[in-house]
Amino acid sequence: MSKPRRLAPMVKAIVVRESGSAVEEVGEEFLDGDGGLVVDVKFSDLNYKDAMALTGRPGVVRKHPLVAGIDLVGIVAESDDERFVPGDWVMLNGAGLSETEHGGYATRARISSEYAVALPEGLTPEQAAALGTAGYTAALAVLRILSENIMPDDGPVLVTGATGGVGSTAAQLLANAGYVVYGTTGRAEELGDFLRSIGVDEVIDRSTLEEPGKPLQKALYSAVVDSVGGVTLANAIAQTRKDGVVAACGLAGSHELPATVMPFILRGVTLAGIDSVWASLDDRADAWRILARGLDLDKLDSMTTRVDLDGLHAAAEELMAGQRHGRTLVTI
Ligand SMILES: NC(=O)c1ccc[n+]([C@@H]2O[C@H](COP(=O)([O-])OP(=O)(O)OC[C@H]3O[C@@H](n4cnc5c(N)ncnc54)[C@H](OP(=O)(O)O)[C@@H]3O)[C@@H](O)[C@H]2O)c1
Repeated sequence: MSKPRRLAPMVKAIVVRESGSAVEEVGEEFLDGDGGLVVDVKFSDLNYKDAMALTGRPGVVRKHPLVAGIDLVGIVAESDDERFVPGDWVMLNGAGLSETEHGGYATRARISSEYAVALPEGLTPEQAAALGTAGYTAALAVLRILSENIMPDDGPVLVTGATGGVGSTAAQLLANAGYVVYGTTGRAEELGDFLRSIGVDEVIDRSTLEEPGKPLQKALYSAVVDSVGGVTLANAIAQTRKDGVVAACGLAGSHELPATVMPFILRGVTLAGIDSVWASLDDRADAWRILARGLDLDKLDSMTTRVDLDGLHAAAEELMAGQRHGRTLVTI
C-alpha cells in the first residue's frame, strides 16, 4: 500500500488580487519566493502603504496575486543563510514585500535573507513589529539629520504628520535626544495632548503650512522630518534655517513638490530623501539600534493597538480616512 501523501500546511494570508484583497487560505506552494528563509510569521503592522494596498489604491502592489504586508517579524523555520538558524527571531521591512514579493500578512513567508535582520536587542518582537517600517523610516530620517551635524542647540526641528507612525516616532526620538520639536496635525484638539505626551513642544495646526508661501520665509527650523509632501514640504523647506536639513519621507498629502531652488542656493538647505525599502543592512542595523535605545518603550506600548488579519481591512479604511494615530500591531 502506498504511503499517504503528506499534505503541505495551509497558509492563512491576505492576498491582493486584481479584483481586490481578502483573507484566504492558500497552499504553501503559493509562496513562490526565491529566498533562503522560511519564516513562521508572528507579527506585522499597519503602515500607510499597507492601508493603500488593502484599500485598493494603486502604487504599492505591482504584481498579482500577492500577499500584502510590507513588514514581518517571525521565527525562522528553515534557513540557507548562515546568519540565521531555525528558532531565531528575524524581521524584514520593505525590500519589495507587498510590492513584488509576498509580504507579511500571512502565517508563513518564504523570503530573501539579503535585507533580513535579527530582532534588535532591547525590543520585544511585538515592539519591533509595532514600530515596523514607519518607526524604522523615522530612525533613518533622524540618522540623516545627525549625519549633517544638526545639534539640539541649532534650533527647533519640525515634524509634519506628527500623529502618524513616521512622525510620532521621529518626534519621540528627537525629543528624547534633546531637540525642541514642533509637530503638525490637523487634529490638534483631539490629539494635541497625545503629541505633548510624546515630547512635542509646540503643536502646529497643519493648515498653517498648506497655503502656498514665499520661496524664502522666516527661518525657523534647523531640520525637518516630513511625511506630507506637497505645499507643506515646500513651506517647510522655505522655513528651514541656514545649512539645515529636510528629510523627505512621505506623501500623505501629495507626491508633488511645488518649491523653488532659493532655500538650497541662498541658505544651503539640504533636501535628503529617505528610502526605507532598499536601505542597506548597515543603515537598518543603525536605525534599529537607535529605536531600541532612544524610545520610551512604555509609551510605544501605550500608543499601540492590536488587530488580527480579519480586522485589518477595517483598520486600513480608518487609516486612509485619517481616523487612526500611533501604531497598529498585527497579530498573525
Ligand atoms: N520613504 C519611505 O521609505 C517611507 C517609509 C514609511 C512611510 N513612508 C510614507 O510616509 C508617509 C507617512 O507614513 P505613516 O505610516 O506615518 O502614515 P500615517 O500613520 O497615516 O501618518 C500620516 C500622518 O499625516 C497626516 N496627514 C494625512 N493626510 C494628510 C494630508 N492630506 N495633509 C497633511 N497631513 C496629512 C495625518 O496626521 P493628522 O491627521 O494628525 O494631520 C497622519 O497621522 C506616507 O506617505 C508613507 O507612504 C515612506
